[in-house]
This record gives sequence, C-alpha cells and structure tokens, in this order.
Amino acid sequence: MTQGSDVDRVYIFDTTLRDGEQSPGFHLDASSKLKIARQLEKLGVDVIEAGFPISSPGDFEACRQIAREIRGTTVTALARAVREDIDAVWGAIKDAETPQIHIVLSVSDVHIDRKLGMTRAQVLQRGAEMVAYARSLCDRVQYSPEDAGRADIDYLIETVETMIAAGANVINIPDTTGYCLPGEFGDLVRRVINEARGSENALFSVHCHNDLGLATANSLAAITAGARRVECTINGIGERAGNTSLEEIVMLLRVRQARLGLECGIDTTQITTTSRLVAELTGTPVQPNKAVVGANAFAHASGIHQDGVLKDRLNYEIMKPEDVGLDDSRIVLTARSGRHAFHHRLGRLGIKLADGKAEAAWQRFLLVADTKREVNDDDLRKIASGESNGNGHATAIDVPNEHNHVADTLRHMIFG
Ligand code: KIV
Ligand code: ZN
Repeated sequence: MTQGSDVDRVYIFDTTLRDGEQSPGFHLDASSKLKIARQLEKLGVDVIEAGFPISSPGDFEACRQIAREIRGTTVTALARAVREDIDAVWGAIKDAETPQIHIVLSVSDVHIDRKLGMTRAQVLQRGAEMVAYARSLCDRVQYSPEDAGRADIDYLIETVETMIAAGANVINIPDTTGYCLPGEFGDLVRRVINEARGSENALFSVHCHNDLGLATANSLAAITAGARRVECTINGIGERAGNTSLEEIVMLLRVRQARLGLECGIDTTQITTTSRLVAELTGTPVQPNKAVVGANAFAHASGIHQDGVLKDRLNYEIMKPEDVGLDDSRIVLTARSGRHAFHHRLGRLGIKLADGKAEAAWQRFLLVADTKREVNDDDLRKIASGESNGNGHATAIDVPNEHNHVADTLRHMIFG
C-alpha cells in the first residue's frame, strides 16, 4: 500500500487530541477537542486521532462528536489490545466517514517483561487476536508495536508480519521513548519494510517522541527509508518532551521539496491559526524560538540580519511568513539593531526625519534601546517627535561613558 501509485505523498496523522492531550496539565474537554478537530480538518490532515475512548466518558463523547461531525478526514482512536478498549473505540468512531481502529501493544523486551509480564509468544498471539477482532468491526486497523525503537529487530519484523497476516493494514513504528538516532531509526524502518512478509499490503507509519530533540529528524529518516505516514502534533505537544511537530515536518517537506521529492496535503497557510488555537485551548504558550510557529521564527533583531532581510529576505529567510499564514516577518528593534531597520520601521509609521536630524535621532534610539528589550512603535514616535519638536534637548548625546546616566535622563525627557 505504501509503495503504490502515490509513492510521493506523505500522509499526515495528527495526534494532538490523543498523545498531545496526554501532556501533563493539557486537559481538553469535548468542546475544545471539537474546535481543534474542525481546525485540523481545515488544515487538511489525513487522519485525526481523536482520543482514547476507554479512558473516560468525557473522552468517549469527544471522540464520538468528532467522528460524527468531521468529514474528509479519517478519524481514529486508541485501544490497548483488549476487547473492552476496541469496543469503546468502535462505539465512539463508527459513525466517522472513514473510521480506523488503532491498537497498541508493546514489542520491546523491556516492556514485555517489566510492564506486561508476558512472553513474546503471548504478545504475538494477543496482538493477532485483537487485530482480527478489530477487523471484524472495521475495515481499517492500525497496529502500533509500542517501543519499537528499543525492540529486538527480528522480533519486531515477526510482529509486523503476524499483524499484517491477521488483518492490520497500517503498521505504525513508534520510537516511544525518543531513544533512536536518525540513521538508526531509518535503518530499522527500512529493514521492517523490506523484510516483513506482506509489507506491500500495509501502509507504514512512524510515531516519534522528542526526548533527545530528534523527533522530527527521526521522522524524516523514516520517510526517507520508505514510511509514508507520519504521526505528529501541533506545536509538538505530547507525552514528556512531546511528539514530532506537525508544522516542522510539513514545512520541511515543502521547503526541501526539490531535494526530497515528497509532498503532503496540508494547507500550510492554516498552520499559524492552528498553532495559536492549540496554545490557547491547552493554556500553554509556544516557546518563542520554536521552529515555524514560535513568535521569533520570522523575527529579525540583529543589525546585520535586518539589513540583509531588508535588502532581500532570501538572505535570511528559507520560507515565507505568508506560507504559514503570517502577514509578514518582523523587524524587531533592539540595541543590536542597525540604522537600516530603524529607518525602515520609522518609514512604516509614515515618519520621515528632517534633513540633518537623522543622526541625533539614531543616537537617541540607541540610548533608549539599551534600556529596553524592544523599542516599540510608541517609543519610535516619541523618539522622532523629540527630534522634530525643536526643543533641542535630545541632540547632545556626546558622553558615551556616561551612557546609563544619559539614557536615564533621556528616557525621562522623552517618555516622562
Ligand atoms: O508513543 C507511543 O508509542 C504511542 C503509541 C500509542 C503509538 O503513543
Ligand atoms: Zn506516543
């Protein structure tokens, strides 16, 4: 199924509402989940994992509402390899346009011994029975051998073969603990796809965690190795350090399309809106330097960079802010900014300094900038009017070694 006619398409499976919501303190009620699901539909994800229905009546109901309302997107939910969980998933998602049951059962010896207290043979048998049971309810069944990243590869391959034979049509390889290195994870996925009998009948997906900051790199390595579905979350939220971030993997496919030759069906202009909605409803702001969606992702603060971007944004921007749904990049004025940026920002406010006044205004700007994290539009207007109102006090900045004192005095004079 992976290696069919649409070999160049990578499918995006969003688990913001399941793994993402498992982040400590991130609880989402049914109405918040529905709002996010509607936005994910607009974003164009291929699969929405709506939740873990057996976990609570509220989550069951959230999954049911999402399955009933969302169209054009596969809706799935998570079950452990037990009938009660599978029944709960089916009860919650059976009204979806395209429902899928997702079963998880461990594959690493650490989990089999220390978590399940079972043998490898018992795990294989349980998994196969539950896949067959799920297939008796639903045409689409995904099997996730949990902790595949730390499993014995031969047993993992045997597991994958067994689950495909039992009826799983999607195999998801999780690096549950975020342990793998990109080359290692790519090799693991390649071997499973190449060596598991029946792999041509399944779509291969991956699910990476970010414990070592490698979730996106590992997902990319897996795609390069032949996986064609990526599980990810908005803003990279999820258990512990989170999951592969949707916006990173999607923009990576887009920005490096010429090299990778792959595409996905995401409307990237919806990325910023989706990120902000998830941040708002989970009550968790995005870190400013987060790739693609952080407040600083399209902001330029140093003079050298600002000058370069103002001459041609290609100098420092590898993607356009409009492509992720932002109006523009930001030229942030700080003490590290340069004259080019200063005059650019004044120009955007419609302020043109009178001839011969620019130097004094620039000196005033520098002194103010040294006292603040960011010089805003209001400050700029005051700096400019201090220059242009003819009171004269702002021009005599000629004592650099009394910088702080002068700055204080000036701030007092300009801002009161
Ligand atoms: O991290 C994990 O292994 C999971 C599975 C349910 C795919 O979240
Ligand atoms: Zn996970």
